[in-house]
Amino acid sequence: MQRRRDDDTSVTACMPGASPTILHLRVLGSGSTLPGLLVVRQLLTLAAAIDADEIVRRRSLWNEATGPLTWAIYDRSALHRVLPSATKPNVQSRGGVGHMTSSEVLILPERNIDIATVQEYWDRRPCNIRHSVAEIGSTEYFNDVEERKYFVEPHIPGFALFERWAGKRVLEIGCGIGTDAVNFARAGADYTAVELSEVSLALTRSRFATFGLTGTFYNANAEQLTAVIEQQNFDLVYSFGVIHHTPNQRAVLEQARRVIRDDGELRIMLYAQNSWKAIMIEAGFDQPEAQTGCPIATLYTREMIDNLLHGLFRVTSAEQAHIFPYRIDKYIRYEYEVERWFAAMPPDMFKALERRLGWHYLIVAEPI
Ligand SMILES: C[S@@+](CC[C@H](N)C(=O)[O-])C[C@H]1O[C@@H](n2cnc3c(N)ncnc32)[C@H](O)[C@@H]1O
Repeated sequence: MQRRRDDDTSVTACMPGASPTILHLRVLGSGSTLPGLLVVRQLLTLAAAIDADEIVRRRSLWNEATGPLTWAIYDRSALHRVLPSATKPNVQSRGGVGHMTSSEVLILPERNIDIATVQEYWDRRPCNIRHSVAEIGSTEYFNDVEERKYFVEPHIPGFALFERWAGKRVLEIGCGIGTDAVNFARAGADYTAVELSEVSLALTRSRFATFGLTGTFYNANAEQLTAVIEQQNFDLVYSFGVIHHTPNQRAVLEQARRVIRDDGELRIMLYAQNSWKAIMIEAGFDQPEAQTGCPIATLYTREMIDNLLHGLFRVTSAEQAHIFPYRIDKYIRYEYEVERWFAAMPPDMFKALERRLGWHYLIVAEPI
């Protein structure tokens, strides 16, 4: 089987019921290799018959032709189970998809992942909520969360540069439970957050109150930032691990451009497609988030980043960082044992791996 990069994906699929209706997706780059090509009838009917946990991975993208679009890749057992024999001849597959070795996988477009589904997911389990065993909302809890977050993601302070924004106006898109938020505020920033998850934002508010900090908070969808944000002169728009989770990712950037000063700075982290973690996810050893079933998690190539920012922001720095090196079974018990294959590496070798295959694409950009 010819191996190819995922950014060379091209999928052609017949939409349900109407064979002449062809949905042609040429996505994630301009690859020239021929990837797995699947033609499937009655896609959405089939999708309804497949359990969410049979999804091998989900992809989402936007481009001018398709708008926001997500599709799911299911494994072949699901394919065999749900496809009536009469439909089977309509399924053709050449090659494989991604790094999957199966020649029988099913790709179904999912147009219906809406913002409410994303919100419900993050409300059910806010990001980093289990970073402490102390009582949620207590001072000890918030201190533990911060300690653990910057222990396992030590690159964050160096990326956010909290001290630099003293006296400046900072807008954070997707503050989660507010770890970076309190550090911007502590450093003296005039801090504003927009967060989709009500549960997460409530914790950020109480975190600010706990530490006697002030900020402005909006429970809103960043795709519609300007519906809630009146101020249009932010020095920094910061967003760490958020934009790749929303259905219309380009809309967030368009809105961010409208509220940032012309001489402001954009600092965002997006998941990197060319990463150790993506390889592990595809091989079934990992998942994008601690909680299963993340509705949308787009993995970005550098080309996709340029497309996302096109005409709005100019990238001034794009670096990869962060390979999570700990054993998960121990990590969830608050123990930190480095996986033996990473433990065997000299630190410089591990750092080199992170620079090329880190999960976090750290993007700094200036408004155009
Ligand atoms: C992986 S968490 C990251 C949270 C935080 N930035 C951090 O580093 O801990 C993703 C967050 O993005 C928020 N989010 C997703 N889509 C959003 C949107 N369209 N508008 C605002 N927040 C959004 C989620 O509610 C969630 O809290």
